[in-house]
Amino acid sequence: MGHLLGIDLGTSGVKTLVIEETGRVLGSAVEAYPLLTPRPGWAEQEPAQWWEATIRSVRGALANAGVSGEQVSGLGLSGQMHGSVFLDGQNEVVRPAILWCDQRTAKQCEWITEAVGQKTLVAETCNPVLTGFQAPKIIWLRDEEPENYQRVRKVLLPKDYLRLRLTGEYASEVSDASGTSLLNVPERKWSEVILERTGIPREWLPEVYESPEVSGRISTEAAKLTGLAEGTPVVGGGGDQAAGAVGNGIVETGVVSSTLGTSGVVFAHLDSPLMDAELRTHTFCHAVPGKWHVMGVMLSAGGSLRWLRDTLCQEEKARAAETGRDAYEYMTEAAATVLTTEGLVFLPYLTGERTPYPNPNAKGVFSGLTIRHTKAHLIRAVLEGVAFGMRDSCEIIKAMGVEFMQVRASGGGARSVCWRQMQAHVTGEAHCKIDAEE
Ligand code: XUL
Repeated sequence: MGHLLGIDLGTSGVKTLVIEETGRVLGSAVEAYPLLTPRPGWAEQEPAQWWEATIRSVRGALANAGVSGEQVSGLGLSGQMHGSVFLDGQNEVVRPAILWCDQRTAKQCEWITEAVGQKTLVAETCNPVLTGFQAPKIIWLRDEEPENYQRVRKVLLPKDYLRLRLTGEYASEVSDASGTSLLNVPERKWSEVILERTGIPREWLPEVYESPEVSGRISTEAAKLTGLAEGTPVVGGGGDQAAGAVGNGIVETGVVSSTLGTSGVVFAHLDSPLMDAELRTHTFCHAVPGKWHVMGVMLSAGGSLRWLRDTLCQEEKARAAETGRDAYEYMTEAAATVLTTEGLVFLPYLTGERTPYPNPNAKGVFSGLTIRHTKAHLIRAVLEGVAFGMRDSCEIIKAMGVEFMQVRASGGGARSVCWRQMQAHVTGEAHCKIDAEE
């Protein structure tokens, strides 16, 4: 086997990694794009910007690694889950993609639940329909933009749009497809009953593969644009959480990951599709063939700290720009100078919430402010609020009978010793870190 290439289509940017078959990283490149919020609660991106950024990041990663396209023997895709890319009959994008953190579809979630029936829906998908998931976005388009809906011929998840541009194939894989509300999760195939009752045409959906299966090959045009070799196989890949979990070794029961990115996710492997009785966590297919996983998802974990940095921490940002350090380091250092928040509580529901409260209208709160509180207390309250949110997910998953033998901290938030320690105290679980090159 030669070298391998991975592309992760994130919410703030796309990252390409070139690795040896041993997993050693040879080179990487990140290219950013904006998140569009044209109305409160809306979150969109332009698929054309994803594709342009992907071309640059693949070229950049190959150059940084000193590797040619011909030396890459296979490519995998991961990415932000749940989004909708609507395409017409010529594969033109019909409107900007609607993303996982968009909250516009509360009405459509109710409609789908009514049309399909809650019992059938849960039996088929193992989950309730949530505002961020894909199916309610399709129904929203039907209700609110009927001219656009009439033009649609295909609906793809974000990373699967990149696959189309790379290979010309309409394909997805089970881990990401689980977050559409259209997959029969126990049987790992599209749900005929849900498609029939919602009126969503089967032909709009791509073929679904298991994650390691080859789903297509690099086309002549994509080869010219990216520098990859024509014919290079592209495997199914995974939703970002399932793919990240494989990277963290969450491929057997007992080992759990705790990931702080924009979202905050506690993720456990399952041998069978087990559910929380109150449906507060998500039960999805894993990227490991024939296996499942359960995860608790907070929508604004690292996102809450980023919000605080951008609204109140200009001084830390300026110091970081001068010293080359990260503003978050100055912020967590400040939080460590106060031993408690002195009763200040932060609820991290800045973009609604999923676990433990599946509520698009949940709001963030600072409660218990007094004249003694400083910025350090505010930062500490945000770190603690997120840690307690992650504990909610841990407690629900434990109550399902899932074993916690080891918790592996991951994501940008895992870099902070202070935050990791806080999570260990709050959850009662030591959080270890996996040694990996960035
Ligand atoms: C998982 C989820 C997020 C997104 C963005 O259900 O919504 O983790 O995939 O990263």
